[in-house]
Amino acid sequence: MTKSQITNSRVYIAQIPEGVAPNKSHFRTVTTTEDKPELQEGSIFVKNILFSLDPYIRHDFAEGAKEAEVIGFGFSKVLESKNPKFHVGSSYFFGTLPWSSYSVLRPQDLGETFNIDSIDKDVPLSAYSGILGASGLTVWDSINRVADLKKGETIYISSAAGTLGQLAGQIAKRKGLRVIGSAGTDEKVAYLKNQLGFDAAFNYKTQDKREALTAAVGPQGLDVYYDLVFDNTVEIALDLFNPHGRVVTVGLLAGHKGGELASPKNIVHLLLKQIRWEGYTVFEHFDQFENFWKEVTPLIKSGEFKYTESVVDGGVEDIAETYLRFLEGAYQGKVSLKFSDF
Ligand SMILES: NC(=O)c1ccc[n+]([C@@H]2O[C@H](COP(=O)([O-])OP(=O)(O)OC[C@H]3O[C@@H](n4cnc5c(N)ncnc54)[C@H](OP(=O)(O)O)[C@@H]3O)[C@@H](O)[C@H]2O)c1
Repeated sequence: MTKSQITNSRVYIAQIPEGVAPNKSHFRTVTTTEDKPELQEGSIFVKNILFSLDPYIRHDFAEGAKEAEVIGFGFSKVLESKNPKFHVGSSYFFGTLPWSSYSVLRPQDLGETFNIDSIDKDVPLSAYSGILGASGLTVWDSINRVADLKKGETIYISSAAGTLGQLAGQIAKRKGLRVIGSAGTDEKVAYLKNQLGFDAAFNYKTQDKREALTAAVGPQGLDVYYDLVFDNTVEIALDLFNPHGRVVTVGLLAGHKGGELASPKNIVHLLLKQIRWEGYTVFEHFDQFENFWKEVTPLIKSGEFKYTESVVDGGVEDIAETYLRFLEGAYQGKVSLKFSDF
């Protein structure tokens, strides 16, 4: 290999997982030695440092995506630049990035970048891939804009120990709600109750979901279901709702694993109990980052808001397997894969 060459590994979609959870056979990692790219005006050449592992990556497996590179959120370091906004040596917080060791990013790829200068250096950079990144903004904005939480109400959060769930629970607690969560291991359930101050939590894998949720909600009834799963758990929530209950559907975890999506038989409760069911996606709301950081960063720094994250060390060849383990719930909190130090 000469000085003008690099070794680059890239992850491709080898097969589309149709109706099943993705497995190793759906990914292919290819490593090549290649010449450093010639940059066009406005482009940059970056070394990727950390990838945020997010369930939505499953959407990359859309029909027709076979042989495409897998795309996710990540941090990079600029090695060469023909763009005045990005300087060699600086890192930046970036929206989307292919799963590879190095990438060339053209002006049209740089739409959702956040320069590192605008973030708080007292917080670990990895937090900006999770609780202070797009995931945190999603929770903060969907709760403020859609959920309409009122003091004294009861909220139930599915996948409560995940990246979004843990922040949703703490914001709801701070607003004076009674907070119930579910997660897939006893360790996560204990974390919700003992560390995050949830009023009740249960293991949705080992307990009967209807019985456990009904017992946790009790005679007070349910007011808000913060839905990160989009399966038929919503049917239980509809039965337990008080009048004017709200379902805020933000996640699709059941779908990411090829599972059946919500099709509640008791949807008539929408009318009978005057329930509002609203979906939310963050992509139209990135202009809210500054407001979100202003309010939430001090709460993270003071320790009032807690979060757990799992930063896994590895290389591009480990991303697919780490992602699959993440989808199975093998890690605690926000999960990212770090290739090298920042
Ligand atoms: N609307 C938006 O703009 C937006 C933005 C960001 C994320 N999201 C979505 O929000 C959802 C949550 O994201 P996240 O990053 O916080 O993920 P996460 O909860 O950290 O996701 C991983 C966890 O999900 C749990 N899980 C997996 N399958 C499940 C199922 N069928 N039912 C219940 N739990 C399941 C597993 O934990 P257990 O051990 O508990 O099973 C796993 O550890 C995802 O669907 C994501 O795509 C939406």
